[in-house]
Amino acid sequence: MAEWVKVCSAGEAPGPGKVQQFAAAGVDVCLANVDGELAAMDNWCPHRQGPLGEGWIEGNAVVCPWHAWAFDCRTGECPEENSHVKVFALKQQGGDVLIDLH
Ligand code: FES
Repeated sequence: MAEWVKVCSAGEAPGPGKVQQFAAAGVDVCLANVDGELAAMDNWCPHRQGPLGEGWIEGNAVVCPWHAWAFDCRTGECPEENSHVKVFALKQQGGDVLIDLH
C-alpha cells in the first residue's frame, strides 16, 4: 500500500542540475533535479552517512559530498562500490511534490 507524503511544494523543489535535502514525514530525503526531472532518494549515504542532499549531480547520478560515491537517481545503484540507496517513487500533485515512503 502506497504512503504518499509531501516533500515540498513544486516551487521549493531544486532547479535543473541541483540537489537539496528535505524532511518528509520524518524521513530525510535527497531531492535531485536531472534535466528538469525530479528524483528522490534516501538522504544518507551508505558509506559513512554523508548528506546526499548537499552533494551534486553528475550525469544521472547524485554524488556524495564527502567521498564522491555516485548514486544513480533512478535506481539508487552505486556501481563502483556495489552499494545503493533507497529511491522513492515520486509524483507531483496539486502543486506539491510527493513521494511514496514504501
Ligand atoms: S559518506 Fe558518502 S561517499 Fe563517504
